[in-house]
Amino acid sequence: MAKQTHRIGILGSGNIFGRYVTGLARFPELRIVRVGDIDVDRAKQAAEEHSVPAWGDDAELYADDTVDILVNLTPPVHHARTVVTALEAGKHVYVEKPLATTVEEGRSTLAAAARTGRLLGSAPDTFLGSASQTLRKAVDSGAIGDPIGASAFIGHSKAETWHPNPAFLFQEGGGPVMDMGPYYVAILVNALGPVRSVAAASRIGAPLRTVTAPERTVDTIEVTVPTHAAAVLTFASGVIGTTQMSFDVWDTDLPAVEIYGTEGTLSLPNPNHFDGDVRLRRHGAADWTVLEPAVELFGAVGTREQARRGLGVRDLANAVEGGPHRADATFALHVLEALCAVEDASRSGRAVHLDTTCERPEPRYSA
Ligand SMILES: NC(=O)c1ccc[n+]([C@@H]2O[C@H](COP(=O)([O-])OP(=O)(O)OC[C@H]3O[C@@H](n4cnc5c(N)ncnc54)[C@H](O)[C@@H]3O)[C@@H](O)[C@H]2O)c1
Repeated sequence: MAKQTHRIGILGSGNIFGRYVTGLARFPELRIVRVGDIDVDRAKQAAEEHSVPAWGDDAELYADDTVDILVNLTPPVHHARTVVTALEAGKHVYVEKPLATTVEEGRSTLAAAARTGRLLGSAPDTFLGSASQTLRKAVDSGAIGDPIGASAFIGHSKAETWHPNPAFLFQEGGGPVMDMGPYYVAILVNALGPVRSVAAASRIGAPLRTVTAPERTVDTIEVTVPTHAAAVLTFASGVIGTTQMSFDVWDTDLPAVEIYGTEGTLSLPNPNHFDGDVRLRRHGAADWTVLEPAVELFGAVGTREQARRGLGVRDLANAVEGGPHRADATFALHVLEALCAVEDASRSGRAVHLDTTCERPEPRYSA
């Protein structure tokens, strides 16, 4: 738990901004002191709406010496460049997912962190939540015996129906693989360890998307990245993961994440959320058992609160004080490489062997 006050500056005041403000408000040691956006009017409006004391453009945020931690909520194509700028301005940085849009760019952000001696953390942080930690505890305690396989099915977030400008979700850095894939792969890597190789096929579904969100600023989007992908992830441990990541599957009854072992099956709720029931069914058991959460809940399940964000920022603040850094850039880079490999494998028709690896982050529960 962080002890000192950390002064937070938020870069990017778009759709997700409010969910960070309400999520960070849970941690009195994290104080938002400034918001910066290339759209200064938007920064001003966000500051006024959420009582943030200072606002301005991006340059003013980088230059603000009162900011210790910069939380980067810009769209993915801007991540690498803005992360490097913020690190070079002397800030510790937490960036939304994905860390960057290519592995090379991702590596450049880690290099900048090493060069400047600042810490770099990245979403997804939902693996720090109660559901993923409960899953990890169950796997580690042998509840399903030896893990053999896993499945992850990502349905459509239907962003066209609620995001004012979801164009970035259908263009470079977006698509279901880069937008939703990070949550699922992070939770699998946290539970099962690093990925060794990826084989995949992907395609664009509908090439033009119609936006129906009530507050939309665009009516249609030209799709330039695959919106439907199937991939086989082979983990270094030998576990074989089957995944479907799609913005073309609007409705499905497939489970979000399951892990299959020699002695049982674990079933997880949507990894986009921190909390929810984790269920275990041992071979031969008459029914599923809902496991006790291994750590405290972050949101209230089934309410808007569940969508709040901020655990990863607190994780970074703890690390600044010398604690373990779990949602760190090494972990995020490995997740990014696994996801970039989906497209590479699909294009080449060959399995891609990953260059990066990572340790499983330290669990949050006490054993
Ligand atoms: N919207 C969601 O539900 C959601 C959920 C989880 C994660 N995320 C992630 O959060 C990030 C932002 O998503 P969003 O939906 O809020 O996007 P958005 O497009 O609604 O907002 C992005 C904001 O960043 C600003 N911006 C763009 N380039 C900038 C730059 N170089 N410097 C400063 N400001 C800049 C834009 O003006 C805009 O206000 C993305 O990485 C996304 O993957 C979004």
